[in-house]
Amino acid sequence: MSPDAPCVWSLWFISLWSSVSAHLKFFHLMFVPAPTISWLMNVRSQCLYSSRDLNDMVLIDSYIFNKIEWIRFNSTVGKYVGYTKFGIYNAERWNNNTAHLQEERTNLDAFCKYNAEICYPRIMDKTVEPRVKVMSVKQASGNHPAMLMCSVYNFYPNTIKVSWSRDDWYYQIHSHLEYTPKSGEKISCVVEHASFQKPMVYDWDPSLPESERNKVAIGASGLVLGIILSAAGFIYYKRKSSRPY
Ligand SMILES: *[C@@H]1O[C@H](CO)[C@@H](O)[C@H](O)[C@H]1NC(C)=O
Ligand SMILES: *[C@@H]1O[C@H](CO)[C@@H](O)[C@H](O)[C@H]1NC(C)=O
Repeated sequence: MSPDAPCVWSLWFISLWSSVSAHLKFFHLMFVPAPTISWLMNVRSQCLYSSRDLNDMVLIDSYIFNKIEWIRFNSTVGKYVGYTKFGIYNAERWNNNTAHLQEERTNLDAFCKYNAEICYPRIMDKTVEPRVKVMSVKQASGNHPAMLMCSVYNFYPNTIKVSWSRDDWYYQIHSHLEYTPKSGEKISCVVEHASFQKPMVYDWDPSLPESERNKVAIGASGLVLGIILSAAGFIYYKRKSSRPY
């Protein structure tokens, strides 16, 4: 593969698959055509790690037949381990094949780390800043507390932390906030994300937004107009009915 190769990991599966099937005759069993019954053979390669420097990376190659993992290569163990009778039998045979085992052992560097180094700058290191909105979803009434909602849109990657701070006290980790308003306090939605240098704080603005104000104004005008028309109609009716014909 050239250093510019995209993150096409499946190519590797195919080459591993053919190298395994080339010297393991039993694989033809998996491809027996059947009109009504079908089997699913699945080979899954996982490169597991927790730090960006890839130091703790582990390669796990799982061979799964009809949802049962029957054999696995774990790069920390350095050889195949069987989980079923068939798997134990084959682990012994596969581990006997020093050339194949040697190839599998180099895959931690040649496959996992190699591809991760390509994918990091192209996908995983990229970040898109979220757009955050703090809204009221329930007003306080009587002894029912009010509720705020913090919505976070359009971000990458998917790891994100949203919490609430109330006068700088963290006290809830959901995106809904139930609270009894106290005068003069400041409530903020705090979002921590890889795209930010530091946690971002979004203050709750208790003044009604423009559209809300417009709705209130339209509603109030309608009410006043309604009252005037009703009064006019009532007066007209009264006058008409008291007048003798
Ligand atoms: C791989 O093997 C190591 C050593 O036995 C073990 O600690 C680890 O849990 C294994 N990883 C997986 C995913 O099975
Ligand atoms: C594995 O190799 C050893 C020695 O080369 C041999 O005695 C043994 O039969 C082999 N086992 C299998 C399952 O092929």
